[in-house]
Amino acid sequence: MKTSPMNRRQFLATTAVAGVGLTLTATFGKAATKPAILGGTPVRTAGWPHWPVCNEVEDKLLLEALHSRKWNRYGGKQVKAFEKAFAARAGAKSCVATNSGTSSLYTCLGALDIGPGDEVILPPFTFIATFNIITLNYALPIYVDVDPATSQIDANQIEAALTPNTKAIIAVQIGGNVCDMDKICALGKKHNIPVIEDACQSHLAEWRGRMVGNWGLAGCFSFQASKNLNCGDGGALLTNDLDFGFKCESFQDQSRNKGPKNLTAGCRGGNLRMTEFQGAILNAQLTRLEEQSRHREQNAEYLSSMLKDIPGILVQQQYPGCTRHAWHVYAFRYQQKHFAGLGRDKFMLALKKEGIDDTAGGYTAWNKEGHVSQLSKNRHYKKLYSPETLDRWEQHRQCPQNDLLCSENVRFTQTMLLGTKSDMEQIAAAIRKIQQHAGAIARA
Ligand SMILES: Cc1ncc(COP(=O)(O)O)c(C=O)c1O
Repeated sequence: MKTSPMNRRQFLATTAVAGVGLTLTATFGKAATKPAILGGTPVRTAGWPHWPVCNEVEDKLLLEALHSRKWNRYGGKQVKAFEKAFAARAGAKSCVATNSGTSSLYTCLGALDIGPGDEVILPPFTFIATFNIITLNYALPIYVDVDPATSQIDANQIEAALTPNTKAIIAVQIGGNVCDMDKICALGKKHNIPVIEDACQSHLAEWRGRMVGNWGLAGCFSFQASKNLNCGDGGALLTNDLDFGFKCESFQDQSRNKGPKNLTAGCRGGNLRMTEFQGAILNAQLTRLEEQSRHREQNAEYLSSMLKDIPGILVQQQYPGCTRHAWHVYAFRYQQKHFAGLGRDKFMLALKKEGIDDTAGGYTAWNKEGHVSQLSKNRHYKKLYSPETLDRWEQHRQCPQNDLLCSENVRFTQTMLLGTKSDMEQIAAAIRKIQQHAGAIARA
């Protein structure tokens, strides 16, 4: 069963009513009962909020787009209105909408004319699209290991990975958290290398009070179905460099001339355009984004305040410059030694049995997997890069901190954070209960 997410007022009312008594009951009282995985009663049986949220606002704008008979962005008004609104919300000079987050990243690399022989820095702890947009250009994706405390790229290790061939640094704001943008932007400036933010999971996150997507040359967003701002599939890039913005607009529209200077992305381009229907849904969804984000923040902070005291649960850290986390996922590290050796998979299964059913381990170590490892054997790559370069690439593929993070990571979805305060208490109660019975669960 799914329930509707509360608005901010309802959340605050629940918060006030719940109080300390409920917290203690949920967290400690239920912990004494037998875990559901061993035949006990689950901590919760209710469902989680519906996602996406939509109502008559979407109906109206979608029908407007339909009846306008202007279904392509050039002629319609929805995509233009969304670009204007999203740029304004971010405080950016320009926004170019595309048909996916992958397309917005691909557009940036296209407008930068990245191609064979070029190297692009990225972290291994990201969605595979960040890797794919580099290999689609036959450039070399150079992995820099992660900081497991924050799950973000380890900015201190980037400089050692740069070579004269490095043509971009992709700073992935993973999970809604934010990378150390001070260090990354300073490196970009020092070595004259553009920084592209992959902010596909971090709508409204902020670094030093300014929204992500504004810090590098450009920042890319995804509006795929699971994202905090969603139109099924869609994307956009933000930039404060107007000429770069026109080059990007050109790339996503078959390299046609754009802007007062008739700029093009060069000899490459494609149709990566957003439709008016995607634009209409985004204009409607945008009306709720701020309130939903605040709701997630309140719940995430409350959940962290309970989980941080549980031995073996390492709550995700933020760098001091991160002034707003977008909470696309709620992630923590699970250390089985504090749970009587109970493995992570069984821990997650036990959580699911307790009714915390939208729990997953997050990314596997893509850098070790078939799709990525095939690169050095790919016939085009073998033609384009020397054996020494591909050997160096293999070395960069070894990311021990990412291995650790991928083996310990546990994440809840953003929709769970749209629940009530007592939903958060039940999550904490379920984890405590599993910890109390961890030995028995491990043996079962
Ligand atoms: C970090 C990251 N980068 C890129 C993408 C690609 O976005 P899309 O699925 O909209 O193409 C995603 C989507 O999940 C993502 O999470």
